[in-house]
Amino acid sequence: MSRYLVPLSALGSALGAAVLLKDHVAGGRCPSKATIPGKTVIVTGANTGIGKQTALELARRGATVILACRDLDKCEEAARFIRGETLNTRVRARRLDLASLRSVREFAAGVIAEEQQVHVLVNNAAVMRCPHWTTEDGFEMQLGVNHLGHFLLTNLLLDKLKASAPARVINLSSLAHVAGHMDFQDLNWEKRDYDTKAAYCQSKLALVLFTRELARRLQGTGVTVNALHPGVARTELGRHTGMHSSAFSSFTLGAGPADVPPPRI
Ligand SMILES: NC(=O)c1ccc[n+]([C@@H]2O[C@H](COP(=O)([O-])OP(=O)(O)OC[C@H]3O[C@@H](n4cnc5c(N)ncnc54)[C@H](OP(=O)(O)O)[C@@H]3O)[C@@H](O)[C@H]2O)c1
Repeated sequence: MSRYLVPLSALGSALGAAVLLKDHVAGGRCPSKATIPGKTVIVTGANTGIGKQTALELARRGATVILACRDLDKCEEAARFIRGETLNTRVRARRLDLASLRSVREFAAGVIAEEQQVHVLVNNAAVMRCPHWTTEDGFEMQLGVNHLGHFLLTNLLLDKLKASAPARVINLSSLAHVAGHMDFQDLNWEKRDYDTKAAYCQSKLALVLFTRELARRLQGTGVTVNALHPGVARTELGRHTGMHSSAFSSFTLGAGPADVPPPRI
């Protein structure tokens, strides 16, 4: 028996450590039972992953939810799913391609015309570690989608948010921002070899810097601005990498999209 003791306790420790790691990377759960009828919320990139779970949870809590996605078919499908799950009929699908400033302007104009109030803007959409693509306007794709598109969207909706106060802007950044470096001489990676990881980190740092400055400028307006790291969740974010498809990732990130904890709103 004693010869099994050491391997068994090593196995037990390894399993315990894996469970603790899983708990740690998955982040916390929102304990609030608050309902939010009468509130209008926009969630970008809401057709899948954390955005879809956020939209589902907020619809369940009674909000009017606008799903803002680049693929309208996927958007309609997610909206139908959320309406079915929550029996909340005030869930709408709208087209928003953050890689096109024209699309951002069209989306914002539609919201301003259609919605009397907007109380919460969740800037969730992102692309991670894609090839060296550029947006319609020529910006490096990760900076363009993750930061610049959201920067323009937020600014276009600011008057509406202020008029709806108390209101809030939630920016989904990432822990990756701590490794970020802003290269203001070469934001678009035209003078250096493209590094997909560094470009993602830069885009998430840009979002954090935007959050801090906007929060400062909006003091006293009743509109708060916060950034968050959502924990690690198995979503489609790793679609341009091998991440999330390895056996280790699948185990550690075991929570599938249905278990993704929504950000605290
Ligand atoms: N999952 C994690 O572990 C993790 C960790 C840290 C931070 N985050 C952050 O959490 C947020 C949500 O990520 P996720 O994990 O849910 O990723 P995801 O499953 O890949 O979802 C990303 C969403 O962004 C949308 N999107 C991409 N490009 C877009 C564009 N040009 N215009 C409009 N929408 C666009 C995607 O739409 P399509 O489906 O049409 O491409 C999708 O709806 C991101 O900001 C991410 O950086 C996630």
